[in-house]
Amino acid sequence: LTALDGSRFPITRTGLRWFDHAGASPLSMDAVDAIARWASAVATDGRATAEPTVATVRALAGDLLGVAAADLAFTGNTTEGIGLVAAGIRWSDDDRVVVAECEFPSNLYPWLMLRERGVRVDVVPLASLSEAVGSGPRPTVVAASWVQYARGERIDLAALAHAAHARGALLVADVIQGTGAIPCDLAAWDVDIAVTGGHKWLLGPAGTGLVYVSERARDVVHPFAPGWASVTPHDDYADYRFELLPDARRFEGGTQATGLLAGLGASIMLLQTAGVPSIWEHIDGLCDRLIEGLPSIATVLSDRSAGGRSGIVTFALDGIDPAWAVGELRRAGFVLRARGGGMRFAPHGYTSPDDVDAFLATIRAWGQR
Ligand SMILES: Cc1ncc(COP(=O)(O)O)c(C=O)c1O
Repeated sequence: LTALDGSRFPITRTGLRWFDHAGASPLSMDAVDAIARWASAVATDGRATAEPTVATVRALAGDLLGVAAADLAFTGNTTEGIGLVAAGIRWSDDDRVVVAECEFPSNLYPWLMLRERGVRVDVVPLASLSEAVGSGPRPTVVAASWVQYARGERIDLAALAHAAHARGALLVADVIQGTGAIPCDLAAWDVDIAVTGGHKWLLGPAGTGLVYVSERARDVVHPFAPGWASVTPHDDYADYRFELLPDARRFEGGTQATGLLAGLGASIMLLQTAGVPSIWEHIDGLCDRLIEGLPSIATVLSDRSAGGRSGIVTFALDGIDPAWAVGELRRAGFVLRARGGGMRFAPHGYTSPDDVDAFLATIRAWGQR
């Protein structure tokens, strides 16, 4: 009935029905157990086999994103990943960044900061992103989300990468709203740099993130905060040759949040066991189920075309303030947020059709008032 086993998610036994995976996800017992095992190990052996954990999680993440593990660096969150990219490029005042105007602040502010350095930053409507990339001065970087946070509009990253490369630009994609929910193949799509975080659709703990820096982009993005972990060899701290690691680990300066990464690894394993294609099919079915059942006072604000759809459906109800509605719904046990001018519904692989039906029954009662 569901793609992921709901019994692995304690939230399903609390009476809450969680439709906020675009915000943050409740942890599975797989993640909880992995973090607890890590904590117990640190308590008794001190070092707690940190290195193998990190290497294993990197490999799992590489498979999920469709990239080589060697091209991935861990961060604390998505914002940090975008920041290290923006801060790591050697900008000059003839550089240009093109970014979509509806982005989450974390994929806009690091670029806007560059205006202080004389970089031209063009903030353009999402619909005219490719056109803006193709005209005007040659862009250095094109930055956009795979899936928009507010209404879930998904773009074709392969097409945007193609448009960027035609002008010699790098594509930096914020992929946090898609990874874990929608099959992802970043290297095949020729994305240069991608950034994500663990606590939404990846079902991992907060405080984990990943940045993918393709081999091509590694000549352009320099480590922003290098340290002992960025160099080879890194077991002799008195060896100051400062030789950066050839792979993306050069972006990791210091000690990782290994316990949280263990939790992220368990979460990715859970996703991979079910398979992201099945999870996506399930999520997409729940989104359709929601839309089909909405009362006539509802307007769906999300793009539901085959290529534009995602795990987010944002809808408005005539005469009902979304902020009021999500507060009322929370009291009735439904968790979602007001975003993009409506209510943002974001189910996952363990969400059941019954959850959606119970939600619809509550909403439909409003439509009949
Ligand atoms: C598209 C997008 N990018 C970045 C973020 C921020 O992520 P983090 O808190 O991991 O930095 C969010 C969070 O809502 C988001 O939706």
